[in-house]
Amino acid sequence: MNVLVATDKPFAAVAVKGISEVIEQAGYKLTLLEKYAEKENLLKAVETADAMIVRSDIIDSEVLEAAKQLKIVVRAGAGYDNIDLDAATAHGVCVMNTPGQNSNAVAELAFGLMVYAVRNLYNGTSGTELKGKKLGIHAYGNVGRNVARIAKGFGMEVYAYDAFVPADVMEKEGIIPVKSAEELYSTCNIVSLHIPATPQTKESINANLVNRLPKGGVLINTARKEVIDETSLLVLMEQRTDLRYMTDVMPAADVKFSEKLAERYFSTPKKMGAQTAEANINAGIAAAHQIVDFLQNGNQRFRVNK
Ligand code: 3PG
Repeated sequence: MNVLVATDKPFAAVAVKGISEVIEQAGYKLTLLEKYAEKENLLKAVETADAMIVRSDIIDSEVLEAAKQLKIVVRAGAGYDNIDLDAATAHGVCVMNTPGQNSNAVAELAFGLMVYAVRNLYNGTSGTELKGKKLGIHAYGNVGRNVARIAKGFGMEVYAYDAFVPADVMEKEGIIPVKSAEELYSTCNIVSLHIPATPQTKESINANLVNRLPKGGVLINTARKEVIDETSLLVLMEQRTDLRYMTDVMPAADVKFSEKLAERYFSTPKKMGAQTAEANINAGIAAAHQIVDFLQNGNQRFRVNK
C-alpha cells in the first residue's frame, strides 16, 4: 500500500517523522509531496496512491479521477471544504477528517490576533485589555471550546452562539448562550469566528451583522475567508472607522483591505492557525492511524462523505 502525504503547506518535520513511523510499522510505503508548485505534480503523485493525507490541498474531481487506486483520503484537520465529497463518493473513496486535533493551535492564534488588535498592532500607542471584555464565540465546536477555555484565563465574559449546541451544555461550561448570531454581535466587544465554510455559511458574515458590534468592535477570523462578505464588510469598515478585522485567512481583496483600512486590518500571509509542531503531530499522526485502521479493520468512524 502506498500512502501519499500531499501537503502544499508542509507539516513540521517532526510530524512527518511520526506519520512515517505509523505508516511503515503497518508495512506500507510513504510518499511525500510537499510545496508542489503545480497541480500536475499532485495529479501525477496520486496515480499510485492507495491512501492520502492532505491539509487544505484541493482534492477535486480531476484529482480523484487521476487517483485510480485511491481508497481513502484523510484531511489532517477539521474543515473538509477543500475536498469534493460527492466526487469522492462517486469514485468509491472514503473521506475523513481528524476533528479536534489542531483546535488548540487555532484557538491560541485567535488570541494572538486579539491581543495584536487591541494593542494597536504593537505600534507603541496606548491600547486596551481583554480582561473584562465580552467575547463572542461564533460556533461552539472544538476550536470554539478551546477559545472559551483560554478566554476565561484572560478574565473575559464569554458568550457563544451555535444553533447545534444546546444552551445548557454551554451554561455548564460557564458560557453565556445567546439565541442568534445577531444577538452575539450586538452583545460582544470581540467576536471570534469558528463556523465551517458551507453553502449555508458562505458570505454570511456581512455588514448587517458586523455593524451590530459596539464601538471599537473587533472581528477575528481564523475560520475561512469564504464565510465573509468581503464587499459589504469593506464598505462598512470604511464608514465605521472604529471597527477592526484580524484574520489568518487572507481575504481575496487583501490589497483593498490593506489600502483602505491600514492598521484596522491584519492578515497573516498564509493560513497559520494550525501551523504548529503540536497540531501537525496531533492531526498528522491521527490521520495516519485512521488510514491504517481503515485499511486493516474497515474502521470508518471519522468518515464525512456518504
Ligand atoms: C482546519 O480546517 O483544520 C484548519 O483550517 C487548518 O488548516 P491547515 O491544515 O491548512 O492549516
